[in-house]
Amino acid sequence: MGAGKSTVAAAVAERLAVPAVDLDARVEARAGASVADIFRERGEAAFRQLERDEVARVLEAGGDAVVSLGGGTVTDRAIRRRLLGEGVLVTLTAPVEELVRRVGDGAGRPLLARDGDLRPRLEALLEARAEAYAECHGTVPTGDRPVGAIADEVRAVAKDAPVVVPLGGRTYRVEIGEGVRHRAADRVAAACAGPVAAIVTDAHVRRWADEVRARVQSAGKEALAVVLEPGEEHKTVGAVERIWDAALEGGIDRQGLVVAVGGGVVGDLAAFAASTLLRGVALGQVPTTLLAMVDSSVGGKTGFDRPQGKNLVGTFHQPRFVLCDVECLGTLPEPDRRAGLAEVVKSAWLAGEDAVALLERDAEALARGEPEATVRAIRMSVGLKARIVTEDEHERSGTRMLLNLGHTLGHAIEAAAGYRDIRHGEAVALGMVAAFRVAERLGRARPEHGERLQRLLAAFGLPLDLTGHLTPATLRFLGSDKKRRGNRVRFVVPGSTGDTALEDLDGARLADLLAP
Ligand SMILES: NC(=O)c1ccc[n+]([C@@H]2O[C@H](COP(=O)([O-])OP(=O)(O)OC[C@H]3O[C@@H](n4cnc5c(N)ncnc54)[C@H](O)[C@@H]3O)[C@@H](O)[C@H]2O)c1
Repeated sequence: MGAGKSTVAAAVAERLAVPAVDLDARVEARAGASVADIFRERGEAAFRQLERDEVARVLEAGGDAVVSLGGGTVTDRAIRRRLLGEGVLVTLTAPVEELVRRVGDGAGRPLLARDGDLRPRLEALLEARAEAYAECHGTVPTGDRPVGAIADEVRAVAKDAPVVVPLGGRTYRVEIGEGVRHRAADRVAAACAGPVAAIVTDAHVRRWADEVRARVQSAGKEALAVVLEPGEEHKTVGAVERIWDAALEGGIDRQGLVVAVGGGVVGDLAAFAASTLLRGVALGQVPTTLLAMVDSSVGGKTGFDRPQGKNLVGTFHQPRFVLCDVECLGTLPEPDRRAGLAEVVKSAWLAGEDAVALLERDAEALARGEPEATVRAIRMSVGLKARIVTEDEHERSGTRMLLNLGHTLGHAIEAAAGYRDIRHGEAVALGMVAAFRVAERLGRARPEHGERLQRLLAAFGLPLDLTGHLTPATLRFLGSDKKRRGNRVRFVVPGSTGDTALEDLDGARLADLLAP
């Protein structure tokens, strides 16, 4: 209230040459009454319903527009999530004293119009709405800045349109594009009040880590480098200890930050270290492999491997920011880049027909590594992951387990190979081929579903041949998967695009279903 929504929306609309829509005015016109009268005569619930209907009309009308919402519109979770999914949501802020000045005596604002001091009521409203307001694509301060500058900033957020992972006060944004790593200084400054940030990387990605480190230092932080040995075989508690010790010796405090610059191995290790250092410090992710961009840097799972299996020790710890810079893929060896495409195929299958069709259209460009197609694929995958993580952050309801399509067997194949000679993405590709074999035998998928998936995997040069992979050792490792329940394994069984289910299968039955 009083943040300047209508004025700024009109200025943004003018710049973009699209209509400006004032939601309150639309509600008033349809109801034939002022907002204050609707509140007084019909109550807040009736007003919210009118508001919900009007938002739906605006979205369903299609076409571009800049909409100034009501101050409470986004307190409705369903509306907020819909706006995040179908539009770009920007929160305007202003210091509370400025808001008090702007709303005057609160007249015409039913939630404020009472006798007495306005400030505590505004503060209470802001506090109650803080989590909802945090779930947005960007926050733009208004204060006493010129409207034009504010409008330009809103426009920049709209152009960038990061993928939002909406988790109330822990909401973060995944920024995807060419050169976004250069934003590291700003993001670190916003996430880290302490003097020290630890930049964790591995020997193969020092070039990118050094760049990020220089940027962080330019933001006035002590940026210490922790350079790990590359590779899954080093995803151990020993590597975690190196991060802990370097950060503690470097003087990290509770306001400090750990930034992972690297692939999924560096990301998982750094994230685990961040979640445990001083009982938890902030985390930033600058993924440098395609796999880490589309999957591991988003969602908050951390961990390391044990001899008994992969990722068996870990925590949940969400990052504060994720910068997916496709320029970093320029130094990634081709087989590693292609391995990341396995996770893209998985995401598309889970997301549904539109996503699979997009991948099929982009397949050649993606196989060549063209940046624009790559950005689209990352956005699609991260968008799906954000939706799933928001629904089931800690993998309790089962929704998040769907992301393990191809992983139960993939992890077992990796473990049986001693985490050598096969990339995670390659193992996931084989795991998906096997999952379709199981799905067909359970009557959930038709042969053409599996064939369609295999065509995509083949276009990306990923392995399809299960021969030699479904060994007794692999099947033994299936039993140590985290997704087991007692002696049953929670297996992700795919069907047609966008229709995937979980099934508890015991080891012997699964072995039967997997048999050639
Ligand atoms: N946390 C999660 O939700 C999640 C999800 C999926 C996978 N993972 C984990 O991610 C890991 C796999 O990630 P990955 O495939 O990125 O493996 P990785 O981190 O081992 O990277 C693959 C190789 O590429 C090198 N590399 C990375 N970026 C590079 C670049 N830009 N240029 C040159 N070389 C580069 C690495 O040093 C490494 O040798 C697995 O441990 C898996 O368990 C975690």
